[in-house]
Amino acid sequence: MYGNDIPGLLGEVEAAEVALRAAADRQVGGREQAELGGAEQSQAYFDAVIDADQKVEPRDWMPDSYRKTLIRQIAQHAHSEIIGMQPEGNWISRAPSLKRKAILLAKVQDEAGHGLYLYAAAETLGVSRDELVNLLLEGRQKYSSIFNYPTLTWADVGAIGWLVDGAAIVNQVPLCRCSYGPYARAMIRICKEESFHQRQGFEILHTLAHGTQGQRAMAQDAIDRWWFPSLAMFGPPDTDSTHSEQSMAWKIKRFSNDDLRQRFVDMCVQQAGVLGLALPDPDLRWNEERGAHDYTQPDYEELMRVIKGDGPGNRQRMAHRRRAHADGAWVREAAAAYAKKAKP
Ligand SMILES: [Fe+2]
Ligand SMILES: [Fe+2]
Repeated sequence: MYGNDIPGLLGEVEAAEVALRAAADRQVGGREQAELGGAEQSQAYFDAVIDADQKVEPRDWMPDSYRKTLIRQIAQHAHSEIIGMQPEGNWISRAPSLKRKAILLAKVQDEAGHGLYLYAAAETLGVSRDELVNLLLEGRQKYSSIFNYPTLTWADVGAIGWLVDGAAIVNQVPLCRCSYGPYARAMIRICKEESFHQRQGFEILHTLAHGTQGQRAMAQDAIDRWWFPSLAMFGPPDTDSTHSEQSMAWKIKRFSNDDLRQRFVDMCVQQAGVLGLALPDPDLRWNEERGAHDYTQPDYEELMRVIKGDGPGNRQRMAHRRRAHADGAWVREAAAAYAKKAKP
């Protein structure tokens, strides 16, 4: 039953980790000149680092637009981890057994940890976590739209783990090779944990699919509702993707939205077979010529609506986050007062 290892993905994370270490031991020449020289030398050194597949580090010179793109992307990623705790947190008190509750608690806690690694990675670019949190609370920065969908039954916790965490890994494994060192390093740890999340979702669905008729129907219903929103997690089609080209050139992004989406579809078809559950797409079939599955695209107009704030749960998610932030004010104040007192 655990034969659901995401084919090759964890191996890719390990290879990325080895490559990171190797890159840290090499240096392209020209660093000293870049530090002493003007804008031209700095840009040349930056380009050489990207070309040589080495990592840009916090103290290195980098183009402003590279810095801004990374701040936007890492912050959006961090916010998604934090808001993403809500749909599943909704089920912690109603998990069907103590074991399920303990697993779900650990999973949701991991997501909080992911948020923290990512805020820390963003801070190395010269913004503070406070600033980023405020941008989220003011609605000026986004989080992944998937978390605006409701979790109606226990099976949704399984579907989120299998499909949403599954899509997250497919998206994030290439980020382990991102050109910005702190982001790449954070992603390695995150991907390893996401792989556990994906398996726990798969295992919940597998149990339900082999339970009573009612449980099986509940599992199928959850997959029916989460399938297309999960496909939308890869973003708009390549033809409409605004940030992609430059991000590819900077080696922040390594594969296009459509390539990653295709990889996810192919992976899920095989795993749905093991689960014995159906994917809700009558046009899903193997295309011998392309060596990949043909499938129905998600509703991108719906994606745009949810991104703009009009999804089924946008208001509720933001209201909850604002309330939680206000409720936690005393903890932040107490920690700051303690830190001040503890300073020699
Ligand atoms: Fe996560
Ligand atoms: Fe996760």
